[in-house]
Amino acid sequence: MHTTEPVVLDHDPAALEVLWQALEPESHGPTVSIRAVMLASVDGTTTVDGRSGGLGTPTDRLVYDAMRARADVILVGSGTALEEGYGPARIAEVWSGRRDSPAPPVIVLTRSLPDRLIEHCVKAGDGVQIAAAAHTPPERIAAAREVGVTVHVMRNGEYAESLRALLTDLGVGAVTFEGGPRLLGEFLTARLVDELVLSVAPEIIVGARGPGLVIGGEEKRIPMRVAAAFSCPRGGLYTRWVVDDERRPDGSRKVNGAGKGTEGILADEAGTNG
Ligand SMILES: NC(=O)c1ccc[n+]([C@@H]2O[C@H](COP(=O)([O-])OP(=O)(O)OC[C@H]3O[C@@H](n4cnc5c(N)ncnc54)[C@H](OP(=O)(O)O)[C@@H]3O)[C@@H](O)[C@H]2O)c1
Repeated sequence: MHTTEPVVLDHDPAALEVLWQALEPESHGPTVSIRAVMLASVDGTTTVDGRSGGLGTPTDRLVYDAMRARADVILVGSGTALEEGYGPARIAEVWSGRRDSPAPPVIVLTRSLPDRLIEHCVKAGDGVQIAAAAHTPPERIAAAREVGVTVHVMRNGEYAESLRALLTDLGVGAVTFEGGPRLLGEFLTARLVDELVLSVAPEIIVGARGPGLVIGGEEKRIPMRVAAAFSCPRGGLYTRWVVDDERRPDGSRKVNGAGKGTEGILADEAGTNG
């Protein structure tokens, strides 16, 4: 694990390498891997005056840009794409030497496909596309396609499976998912997210108006473990978390080896049998 030793990131190639390595995904392979990227203040607020940019720092920007440089595709919720005025992705110069292919497309997830989103995508050009849910009204899809917007339509079925199937059909492996909090809640609940790259902005917002990291329906605890963490002298904490299916919310861990379908032996984080 990358530790909390501070690194000065600006133009130091060694520090940039540390950051790049800290963002290396835990598992590689032919399957789709979805990594969420979020920014929150210490109290967990994700926006100031309706946008995340108010919380940003230069180091957070490096993390965000690196995750885009690592992606085959960028997924984002319709709420975020509209609020934040999403345009086509670009590869930041600082990371351009680490990527051969052009910038990944941005795919906006929607169910209702409102006029506002269609107009937004027309202005943005083909670098911003749409993934419509299976039940999105066909006339909405036709309206978007008529004005030249690329619309991918998910298959019928459970949302998580349909989205994974779409991503597989598109031939992508590394997916960077940029929120927002509503979709992140849905994705975590549906076990769609493999990792969370979370930048903690160096401030607390008292009386925050913005949403927290996740907005959700029913209470659900998602076990996570930290895979990389470091701070920077200007403040802020940069972390990479892995959704830990093997760990239970109480901290105990399922140990492999017991027969299929059984609970397994419980061990605490230090590895002591319980
Ligand atoms: N700090 C950060 O890191 C960060 C990151 C992202 C966003 N934000 C902030 O969060 C706010 C927007 O986030 P949000 O949570 O309101 O919106 P969101 O999660 O970005 O988008 C929600 C929309 O996604 C679409 N959608 C498609 N499939 C869905 C599904 N299965 N379940 C739920 N929604 C689905 C729906 O769009 P339709 O209505 O089109 O059907 C829904 O209204 C903005 O203020 C933005 O600045 C902060």
